Amino acid sequence: MTRRIKRNWIVPVGEKLTERDEIILDYQAKGYLVPSRSLIKTEEQVEGIREAGRITRGVLDLVEGLIKDGVSTEYINKMSHEYTLDHGGIPAPLNYEGFPKSICTSINDVVCHGIPSDEELLFEGDIINVDVTTILNGYYADASRMYVVGETCSEWQRLVDVARECRDIGAEVAKPYTFVGDMAKAITNHAHKNGYTIVRELCGHGVGLAFHEDPEVDHYGKRGRTGMLLVPGMVFTIEPMVNLGGREVFVDEEDGWTICTEDGEPSAQWEHTYYMTENGLEILT
Ligand code: MF3
Ligand code: CO
Ligand code: CO
Repeated sequence: MTRRIKRNWIVPVGEKLTERDEIILDYQAKGYLVPSRSLIKTEEQVEGIREAGRITRGVLDLVEGLIKDGVSTEYINKMSHEYTLDHGGIPAPLNYEGFPKSICTSINDVVCHGIPSDEELLFEGDIINVDVTTILNGYYADASRMYVVGETCSEWQRLVDVARECRDIGAEVAKPYTFVGDMAKAITNHAHKNGYTIVRELCGHGVGLAFHEDPEVDHYGKRGRTGMLLVPGMVFTIEPMVNLGGREVFVDEEDGWTICTEDGEPSAQWEHTYYMTENGLEILT
């Protein structure tokens, strides 16, 4: 029987090893998961993703002004769609694996992938995640924010704030040559310290030349040095889903998309697309 060791970081024969190659090859030899070279973006590609990110950010800014009691999620979808087209972009969710709308709108106990609808209206006190991914010139930029309709109770407001802190703390920890697991551990610790749980079934992801690329960016973990090694040039999202109650979720059987908390308690999520520089993460959205 032959045993095949998966090698991801391959330096062509005859090419001089850089310092980066040495570090990565060393981790690879020790059995750690390292990226393939195809995940390393060129300056030009990063600039393309950055430009797509400007549209994504523009949509999320626009949505800020639309969030009001009585507004339908379909109206938010329509306005987001038009803004994206007006700026030369394409909404990535539309027709993605059959998704029927241009953005995801996830209210209260909906964790993510909520489908905008004429029938669904915002109410005072609701918390909603709007998730926007734009394609511009073939480049993808993915981000989401939470919005509060008017004012919500202090318990839910705190959930929204801590979810944002979880993402930002994760982004701070993610330095070159740390692992996805180091970041996940920091996110999990912050959520648990505040009495919240982290959803395990959905993760962040590489992004840029496609909607979802490697690596899998898990947000849950207690151990560091797990998951993929993070290397300068990689572009990926961080998007932890933080639950007020239990971490368990289910998929709505009727639409096949909407993910809800099992216990009906609210969930909050913030997302950015990041570029790993030599010094740490740069936000592209
Ligand atoms: N934007 C989501 C993410 O952060 C993916 C949405 S897939 C869709 O990865 F089909 F629901 F749009
Ligand atoms: Co997203
Ligand atoms: Co994403």
